[in-house]
Parts: sequence; C-alpha cells; structure tokens
Amino acid sequence: MHVVAGGDKFAQDPEEFAGRLAAQAVSAGDPTGWFERLYAAAEAGETAVPWDRGVPSPFLTQWAEQRGLAGARNLAGSAATRARAVVVGCGLGEDAEFIAERGFQTVAFDISPTAIAAARRRFPGSAVEYLTANLLDPPAAWHRAFDLVVESLILQALPDPPRRDAIARLGDLVALGGMLIVIARAREPGEPTEGPPWALTRAEIEALADTGLEPVRIEDLNDPQLEWPRRWRAEFTRPGPASSQDP
Ligand SMILES: C[S@@+](CC[C@H](N)C(=O)[O-])C[C@H]1O[C@@H](n2cnc3c(N)ncnc32)[C@H](O)[C@@H]1O
Repeated sequence: MHVVAGGDKFAQDPEEFAGRLAAQAVSAGDPTGWFERLYAAAEAGETAVPWDRGVPSPFLTQWAEQRGLAGARNLAGSAATRARAVVVGCGLGEDAEFIAERGFQTVAFDISPTAIAAARRRFPGSAVEYLTANLLDPPAAWHRAFDLVVESLILQALPDPPRRDAIARLGDLVALGGMLIVIARAREPGEPTEGPPWALTRAEIEALADTGLEPVRIEDLNDPQLEWPRRWRAEFTRPGPASSQDP
C-alpha cells in the first residue's frame, strides 16, 4: 500500500496518523505492515514517529540502575568478555545505544528497514549492530543466543494474532542463564483495548514462562501521579548456567 498522509490533520497528529495506518493494516490481515509505512511517512516529513523520545526508555534506564546492569564480565583467569544483548523492535536506536554503553555486545533489530537506516544515521560509528529482521521469523542462529533480551513496547504494538507467536519467539531468544526485560502497557482481563497500543493482561506477560523462562519480578507500574499510563515491567530468566563464555 502506498502511504497517503491523511491530510493536514493527520500530519499534525502523529498518534492518529499511526492509528489509521495500523487499522488499515490489521483489517488487511497484515498487522505488522504499518510500521514501515509509518517510518517512511515520517522520513518524507508527512508525520512524526509517535514513540520517538530522543532518549532511552526511562523504564529501562531505571531498571538498569536498580539492578546494576553491566555487560562486561571479568572472569578469573580469562580475558574480559562481553555479554550479548538483543534489542527487539529497536526503532530509532536509543535503547540499543544505552545497552551498548552498559558494556553489552549489542544487536538491535526492527522490522522496518527505514527505521534501521534512520538509527544508523542517528548514531554514526555506533558499536551496535543494527539489522532489519522480523521477531516472528528470526534467524535460526538467535535461538537462545542472548544473555539479555530487551523488549520495550513491541508486544503491545501487536494485536493477537500474532501476539502469542511473538511471545514465544521472544522467549526463545534468551540464552541459558540469560534475562529478558519486557515493558508494556497493562490492562485488566475484560478491560477493552483499542490499539495501537493493545495493552497486555498479566496472564499474557506470564505466558513468557511457557517458553521455559522463570519470572524474576513482575511490576505493575500504576501510579496515577505519573504522566504514563499503567505498565508492566517484567524481568524473566532462563534457569541454567550462564552462556558458553563462562567456565
Ligand atoms: C511502539 S514501537 C516501540 C519502539 C521502541 N522499542 C521504543 O520503545 O520506543 C514498536 C516497534 O517495533 C517494531 N516492530 C513491530 N513488529 C515487529 C516485528 N515483528 N519484528 C521486529 N520489529 C517489530 C516496529 O517497527 C516499531 O519500531
């Protein structure tokens, strides 16, 4: 489908523009088809990317501070190695840059080639490996390959289907001893959600355990004082010895 900027109104209201593109894609049976159209429209100056904060997610940075997240490993008797991280649906790259700065060898991918090109342009000389890829059809080599998997606002950007499939694929990226952090809009069962975003129930978050992960902490961030709507921030781990780089 060719991008049509929906007139001045939508050009001035990126959320509404994105909602219209999403509705068209979902009703055409292509629920991931609107992301590239949105990034391309933003590139053409027709709209803005609604989630372009210009800084990493505060939910991610706060979590990283709290748990002292560091990707560098100093193993006795061996050279320092770096843990591997993947940032799923990385968009324009701020979260990926933050994770790389924390010492992780970082891969970041998005389904939108235009987003990936924009991230590379935004961070020239970056240590992050930016790739176009689809969470719903990831490279076989990524099976349980990452010590840290970061998911910020991806599951909530997908209706079901294909959300259940996305949950399974996400969990499958986590290596033995690795961890997953999920940040997503929250709702109660039965509470209507008209996406995007399509808010998740606690049961959907807990379904990550079906991929062999164990919940470490599931936070319900629901503070009416905050400007943010209610969110889940959930950390999971895959029990087992940490990856092959460990003794
Ligand atoms: C709501 S945005 C969030 C972007 C970023 N993670 C953030 O927190 O600001 C959702 C992102 O996921 C990407 N995305 C959606 N479905 C995807 C999929 N199946 N595989 C990879 N990326 C996907 C979109 O292109 C978009 O960049």
